[in-house]
Amino acid sequence: MMITVVDGGDLTPVAEAVCALVQAGDCVYLEGPIGAGKTTLVQACAQLLGVSEPVTSPTFALAHVYEGTPPVAHLDLYRLGEAASRDTADLLAYLTEDAIAFVEWPEYGSNWLPAATCSVEIGLATDGVRQFHISPPAGRL
Ligand SMILES: Nc1ncnc2c1ncn2[C@@H]1O[C@H](COP(=O)(O)OP(=O)(O)O)[C@@H](O)[C@H]1O
Ligand SMILES: [Mg+2]
Repeated sequence: MMITVVDGGDLTPVAEAVCALVQAGDCVYLEGPIGAGKTTLVQACAQLLGVSEPVTSPTFALAHVYEGTPPVAHLDLYRLGEAASRDTADLLAYLTEDAIAFVEWPEYGSNWLPAATCSVEIGLATDGVRQFHISPPAGRL
């Protein structure tokens, strides 16, 4: 499924499409370059899932978890790209059966992350138009 959003446009339809596809225990991979809008999409999804706290980029902490229905785990593995030997057990602990995990830069966790149940690839054109290519959970639909 592909959804196009103009610059400054509402991400709710994208978040609704993603949230309709996933359930607790799932791991959603968010792909796209810096500035594509990965964190912003997680904010929109978290809002739909009832997270009331502000969702901030986990670029430095690497992972955050928020109360929601279900809980939302948000990981950003970008900094692991420079520290590939870092112990990742603490990050794996965020991937629980009761939460939906959203992972930015999953390629930096390719040797320990569970497979994506759903992935969203974000393409950003120079005019600010974003294309969200949503791949549904493997084998479930
Ligand atoms: N749908 C959108 N419309 C306009 N600006 C957006 C949109 N999504 C993201 N942005 C802006 O682009 C910048 C990068 O977004 P961010 O979500 O942090 O990207 P990423 O996590 O992929 O690096 C931020 O300034 C954000 O406000
Ligand atoms: Mg980000």
